[in-house]
Amino acid sequence: MLKSQTPAGWFDVCTKDLGALLSDHMHCERKAAENALSLVRKYPHNHRFVETLARLAHEETSHVIQVTLLLEELGIAPRGDMPNHYTRGLLAEARNNEPHRRVDLMLCAAFIEARSHERLVLLAQGFTRTGNGRLADFYNVLANAEERHAQVFVELASMYEDAQVVRERMESLGQHEAKVLADLGMGCRVH
Ligand SMILES: [Fe+2]
Ligand SMILES: [Fe+2]
Repeated sequence: MLKSQTPAGWFDVCTKDLGALLSDHMHCERKAAENALSLVRKYPHNHRFVETLARLAHEETSHVIQVTLLLEELGIAPRGDMPNHYTRGLLAEARNNEPHRRVDLMLCAAFIEARSHERLVLLAQGFTRTGNGRLADFYNVLANAEERHAQVFVELASMYEDAQVVRERMESLGQHEAKVLADLGMGCRVH
């Protein structure tokens, strides 16, 4: 689904300040929960849609809890949120007219989940390599969930648009996502 790969060396850059990375990760999980519920507010007209997003928000909230408990275990205080230029840049491409907007909001969410999955896998592999089994196990578990969420959002988009149109839209949003990410450079954050 992703049109680019995170560059080699990302793990070393993003783990230079573990407090910054884990705080950003905690806020990413919070924003994922908030986004799922905000989609329920915008589009409350289908039972399955509402149920799926509410369950997703529930799971993302449990991830907020898991990351904050990990921060506590490591003796690191959670920090404030930073503006997320990645999400902002990605959403700038979402069309404004319905039903296209809801399809694009679902597909943008799918790309955020897919990119999160890619990067949490890189964190799991990196922490395995550097001998930090606690963090490797932590990121392995969370990476699996984000991979599933990407698929959930593609399925939700397919409720409102023909499968072929969804595929074409994923192709162009995928190119856009790769460009937004490449323009941002690397920091102590998930994306
Ligand atoms: Fe999550
Ligand atoms: Fe997720």
